[in-house]
Amino acid sequence: MNDGGSVVHPAVEPLSYLIGRWRGEGEGGFPTISSFAYGEELNFTHPGNKKPVIGYSQKTWKLSSGEPMHAESGYWRLKPDGTIEVVIAQSTGLVEVQKGTYDAEKKVVKLQSEFVGNASKVKEITRVFTLVNDELSYVVEMATNLTNLQPHLKASLKKV
Ligand code: HEM
Repeated sequence: MNDGGSVVHPAVEPLSYLIGRWRGEGEGGFPTISSFAYGEELNFTHPGNKKPVIGYSQKTWKLSSGEPMHAESGYWRLKPDGTIEVVIAQSTGLVEVQKGTYDAEKKVVKLQSEFVGNASKVKEITRVFTLVNDELSYVVEMATNLTNLQPHLKASLKKV
């Protein structure tokens, strides 16, 4: 980290590998629905070294037709105690507050919902992001009023 030229807040440094645009493909499913395939773009931004925050936006589309599917955006906030807090607003109207931890060496981020709001069915959401060999993959699990915590999404993306 240098002073004048630095663009990354020190608290963001351990997760600076995320910053940039990622594209890839994923698969979704759940016991109560048919499985599906999707394309996805993730964008992690860091507007400067003054705030320990990474902006996050996601959009997905049907692989077959390119038709837009789910989208969401929010903020990843690095806390002084080394934990992470993520707020996300989804295109479905659902909002989530995630709390979690990261391992800078293993490049793993684990998030667990503390709050899920404006959701008709969803009770709990977990998200785990892992970087291995330049490939960012994640698994999203959810619990609904009828189904306990199970995978809903998994995807793998490369930086573009
Ligand atoms: C279905 C939640 C992300 C595509 C569902 C259902 C819920 C849900 C509650 C209905 C399950 C049931 O009826 O038992 C969520 C949550 C997400 C998320 C909480 C993020 C944390 C996504 C994404 C996509 C997606 C990223 C697309 C890439 C679908 C599809 C269905 C579905 C296609 C089945 C059809 C439908 O009910 O509309 N999701 N979802 N979901 N989700 Fe998601």
